Amino acid sequence: MRVLSGIQPSGSLHLGNYFGMMKKMIEYQEKEELFCFIANYHAQTSLSDGKKLAVGTLEAAANFLALGMDPEKSTFWVQSDVPEVQELAWVLSNFTPMGLLERCHSYKDKVANKIKPNHGLFAYPVLMTADILMFHSDKVPVGKDQKQHVEVARDVAIKFNNEYGEIFTLPEPEIDQDVATVPGLDGRKMSKSYGNTIDLFLEEKALRKQIMRIVTDPTPVEDPKDPDTCNVFQIYRLFVDKEQEAALRSHYEAGGLGYGEVKQELFETVRDFFAPYTERRNELIADKDGLRKTLAAGAEKARWAAAKTLRKVRKKTGLTY
Ligand code: ADP
Ligand code: TRP
Repeated sequence: MRVLSGIQPSGSLHLGNYFGMMKKMIEYQEKEELFCFIANYHAQTSLSDGKKLAVGTLEAAANFLALGMDPEKSTFWVQSDVPEVQELAWVLSNFTPMGLLERCHSYKDKVANKIKPNHGLFAYPVLMTADILMFHSDKVPVGKDQKQHVEVARDVAIKFNNEYGEIFTLPEPEIDQDVATVPGLDGRKMSKSYGNTIDLFLEEKALRKQIMRIVTDPTPVEDPKDPDTCNVFQIYRLFVDKEQEAALRSHYEAGGLGYGEVKQELFETVRDFFAPYTERRNELIADKDGLRKTLAAGAEKARWAAAKTLRKVRKKTGLTY
């Protein structure tokens, strides 16, 4: 089975990115054929500062590698190093009804939040479709917010295949229900755009500060508390096994638990969990040429696969004459 996903290099990483997508991808490389890339074309829909995009791209690559992405076991590259995907996006845009794009929540949400839409933002799911179909992906692990985009890819693949035969594999989104939406400091979805994140690779002090900002209710220490409505608990449970989760649940329900105390424990847990990765990340960032070399090798593998798909598409659609 082929598994593919991408992540935008815009800004720092947070727990939502890690548990919603990266962790699963890293686990997949042990058992499936994994394709994973840094979606820098997609990041251009919200980032025009070239320097920031370039730095962010290398950092995103270092983050993924530090967390365990192994370029020997998987195909790992930067989206713009395989520009063939743009040609496929153009071809596929002719099989994408306007209504399909107009219905995309992520686009509608951004417009509702007063972001002035440009064509890139509107066409973003078509490029994502090209990413997915180019590599014949069976499964696409994403957070819940990206599910609809994978469904667009599936619809477009069906339309294309109806016209030209079985060219594309029909992809399926994969969403881990346990971490479908990691809540942020304020209980809304953890997201860069809400400024409610707990970031990976932070200095201890900054990490502690973020965790102490998690919003809790004013229930007095001695009273029983509801773990299911507590943001601290919802984040904590991502780090512990079922048994530890049950123990913490009982502690909440019994009363006598202070939020400050659980936050301190959560801080220590997050810090210790990511400490070894942070060290590795800093080494990788310090060797930019080494990183570029790793990415170039990944792009070469991806380009080979892309060229194969594109040859078929060009032939079927008459671009090869
Ligand atoms: P952000 O919302 O912070 O801009 P991205 O859109 O860049 O995050 O998301 C990158 C990946 O991480 C996607 O697969 C997305 O679904 C996943 N993801 C982001 N935030 C969360 C979250 N709070 N819970 C679960 N998955 C998330
Ligand atoms: N749009 C995705 C995000 O913002 C990133 C992405 C681009 C992607 N192309 C993809 C994810 C293809 C999965 C498959 O998170």
